[in-house]
Amino acid sequence: MEISLSFIKKIAKDLYSIEGTLSVLPGEIDFNYKLETNEGLSFILKIAPSNYNIEYLEFQQNILQYLNKQSTQKDLPKVILNNEGKEISFFKDQNGAQRAVRILSWVYGRIWSTVNPKTDYLRHSMGEKAGSLTKDLQNYKHHKAHRFFDWDIAGAEWTREYLYLFNNEQASMLIYFLDIFSSLKPLYNNLRKSVVHNDVNDNNCIVSKDLEYPSVTSIIDFGDAIYTQTINDLAICCSYAIMYKNDPLTAALPIVQGYHSAFPLKEEELSLLYSCIAIRLIISVTKSALNKITEPENEYLSISEKPAWELLQNWITIDPDFAHFSFRTACNLYSHPDFISFTDWTIQQKISLSELFFSLKIEEVHLIDLSVSSTWIGQQHEFNDLDLFQFKLDKLQKKHPNAIISGGYLEPRSLYTSSVYDKIGNSGTENRSIHLGIDFWVPASTPVFSFLDGHVVMALNDQGEKAYGGMLVLRHQVPGFQFFTLYGHLDVASVLSYKPDDYIKKGQELSIIGSSKENGNWAPHLHFQVMLSLLNFKNDFPGVCFPNQEKIWSGICPDPNLLFKETILNTHFNSIEKKIQSDREVYLGKGMSLQYKTPIHFVRGEGVYLIDNKGRKFIDTVNNVAHVGHEHPKVVRAGQLQMGLLNTNTRYLHEHITTLAKRLIGKLPPELVVIHFVNSGSEANELAIRMVKTVTKSEEIIVSEAGYHGNTNMCVDISSYKFDGKGGAGAPKNVHVFPLPDSFRGKYTGENTGYLYAKEIEDLINQIKNSNQQVGAFIVEPIISCGGQIELPKGFLKEAYSLVKNAGGLCISDEVQTGLGRIGSNYWGFQLHDVVPDIVTIGKPLGNGHPIAAVACTIDVAEKFANGMEFFNTFGGNPVSSIISQTVLEVLEEEKLQENALFVGKFLKKELQILSKKYPIIGDIRGQGLFLGIELVDSNLIPLGLHASYLVNRMKDHGILMSTDGPDNNVLKIKPPLVFSIDHAKELLFYLKKILDEDLMKAFNL
Ligand SMILES: Cc1ncc(COP(=O)(O)O)c(C=O)c1O
Repeated sequence: MEISLSFIKKIAKDLYSIEGTLSVLPGEIDFNYKLETNEGLSFILKIAPSNYNIEYLEFQQNILQYLNKQSTQKDLPKVILNNEGKEISFFKDQNGAQRAVRILSWVYGRIWSTVNPKTDYLRHSMGEKAGSLTKDLQNYKHHKAHRFFDWDIAGAEWTREYLYLFNNEQASMLIYFLDIFSSLKPLYNNLRKSVVHNDVNDNNCIVSKDLEYPSVTSIIDFGDAIYTQTINDLAICCSYAIMYKNDPLTAALPIVQGYHSAFPLKEEELSLLYSCIAIRLIISVTKSALNKITEPENEYLSISEKPAWELLQNWITIDPDFAHFSFRTACNLYSHPDFISFTDWTIQQKISLSELFFSLKIEEVHLIDLSVSSTWIGQQHEFNDLDLFQFKLDKLQKKHPNAIISGGYLEPRSLYTSSVYDKIGNSGTENRSIHLGIDFWVPASTPVFSFLDGHVVMALNDQGEKAYGGMLVLRHQVPGFQFFTLYGHLDVASVLSYKPDDYIKKGQELSIIGSSKENGNWAPHLHFQVMLSLLNFKNDFPGVCFPNQEKIWSGICPDPNLLFKETILNTHFNSIEKKIQSDREVYLGKGMSLQYKTPIHFVRGEGVYLIDNKGRKFIDTVNNVAHVGHEHPKVVRAGQLQMGLLNTNTRYLHEHITTLAKRLIGKLPPELVVIHFVNSGSEANELAIRMVKTVTKSEEIIVSEAGYHGNTNMCVDISSYKFDGKGGAGAPKNVHVFPLPDSFRGKYTGENTGYLYAKEIEDLINQIKNSNQQVGAFIVEPIISCGGQIELPKGFLKEAYSLVKNAGGLCISDEVQTGLGRIGSNYWGFQLHDVVPDIVTIGKPLGNGHPIAAVACTIDVAEKFANGMEFFNTFGGNPVSSIISQTVLEVLEEEKLQENALFVGKFLKKELQILSKKYPIIGDIRGQGLFLGIELVDSNLIPLGLHASYLVNRMKDHGILMSTDGPDNNVLKIKPPLVFSIDHAKELLFYLKKILDEDLMKAFNL
């Protein structure tokens, strides 16, 4: 029955001398209230139902008192004694019935269920906290802990009675799990027992206030504590904390790891954890179904129903053995329990490779590098060109006639491009890349022999692109355990002649190597793999795994070279990131910074992707240098060919340089007719300023606040981004800075600010004149990139150019970032503003990663600059650079990438604008084509740089690279290679939205 709040207030005052305001909290058994005093203290007041059991209440108080005495438990609720020093008080409700009331201290923090995101770090801390509770309860005893309780996993058989509540599909799923659990009951019954919390669910876990690295600080509500199998507590933790995850098993691993670190788990417990998690979910859905009948209005009672069903549906797709092996790995055990037996057994074996390939003369092994960073395989299209790959193999074989070409165990490869190798994990797309066997690159029709007695388990044709083709799996029994060997890419007909269980004798010819046509379109080879378990695979077995599961899979599929003991095959693909990082610290300048809190080690680029050393692909929205796509095959090939032919300098005649110059001029307005080639954007601007000095005899330069033009002395001198930034010494005397023409947050805001900012230019010109100097140049980017993707206000540039030109100065458009079609609507940024500069500097995209840059200028500037002093640049415009740039310009047109920038850019900008309506943190969306900016501010337009940095790091966790810029580092820049498609844009938007919903992104002044 309901008790009025005023009545409860009175009870708190009379029995505990606590006065305050009350609010109702959810609860399954007790009626719970939050009691807040005027002094700012909070308590939880719990009224037991009228049919309470006093001993049970005493048990709950007792367990808290016990735990609070343990030094490890600092943040648990404390029992508040009443005016008489008692832990439990009694009162008569309005009906005259005796009721029991308890007050506990309030545990401050956030409830797990409200926290977003739930990171691995958070889940680990939950496991650790729960483990420490379990540990501290090991010697705790209370007779009330021994009771039957619906929520006890050990007694879950009762749920079978209620299977009729569910539809057939649901019921059969529950039966599946219940039957597994029943079959494991003898083992389960023998697991260690203790009193456990028994309800570490998402409403009983208190999380710290830290929004970036939240951790679990406390576990509350001991009302369900019970004496049962200890592992149940971890199972309960997992079952709630892995809801809503694409990959719940992976999400469970940090919990297991954390728990194990506080309370070491036993091997037998780990083998039952998968089932215990399922059983807890079954109890949960059954209780929800029952509660819906008995208390339909109490939503709290079925709060977990939907996610529990979803999780069960996902959980059933996970192989129980694989889950068990994964849990073992989380506890630093070899994933397969027979791993040590297998490695011990192999010590006595020495199987010569000739036993596998009897017909081949093998004197040595030649290791082949197919890793992500391999230059031998070249680019993807080269690898996929079977003739080419075979040709390269044949050449290698000729060079090493008595060697068997092989390798690949645990090699990270990026060869598996079919989508069957991908999945959407808990943080974006994941790619299977770690090779689990050894490949032997031998000709088609080479016979393969059995090196050990065995039985056929699988003999089939695994059809499909990059599949196994003819595939044979044998089972081998050795004393104490069994293992399996897999032979992939065999001749289909010979494989299909086997039946399951056929006996194979050591030395027997198994099959022959299949041809490319029937082996999934690979160059002929044998994929040889050892497995300690087939898991539940019947017609296939993975030969490659996801990088984050490498430890698990390598314990299931040990190194086949343990059998052969060929030293050269003992390859190790250890991560070298730490080493590179420490070497950088020793050998590189401290000013050379690294991107991201955890830096990335990229070894390959492909189109819009950068690929790390483990084969993870990241969508790149940062590197506008790779204009037509990372390592565009046509551009790469052009450079390779010319590099093999000739590379000299501009002092000799060469067609490439003039063709490139003509091509660029063809893209520029008729006034810009002369090109000089250099190596970088900085050199281009350096040369532009040198031209200004020669032509105008003035060194007075007008520059934009927050503008950046390069890293050389002169360029830093004209870059407010540098001289006004960290370590800068302010503007040199001859450099005149106008305010960043930012209509969103600049000196003048709103519509029609162009003339106001142009007036600032006029003022600077007057100042220069007043100091008896003459204007040299005005340099600005058409969209100010480092300033935070600032679009110049309408009319500004036209007016500014006119003022500068009238004052005798030259106008330079720095197109290092914006040129070559990036802005979509035009080839050059200045064309947005209906102006023609005197000098245009071109850099980054021109070489698609190769260092080449250019300066275009008018005939007048060119003539005056040519005053007799030679302009020579050792590398600028060399034949290799020139042909690379020419090809970039060609590809840009052939693949209609400017049009793509316009189309995708418009779509993305529109969608971002829609997003900004929903997320007030997005203050402004700006930019053109694929050169966009997202500015994060609070309601007072205060820049939110920390939020931007958090977002960039979280996007990276989800496989998307972004960067920040602007004077306050609060603008996210989007400037991907122009091959960025609508699908990439949609993926970017999807994860942006996901991260914008995270707690830290919502914590700002609204
Ligand atoms: C607008 C602009 N100009 C010039 C440069 C300098 O180019 P580089 O680094 O190739 O010397 C940069 C580099 O980021 C730039 O963004």
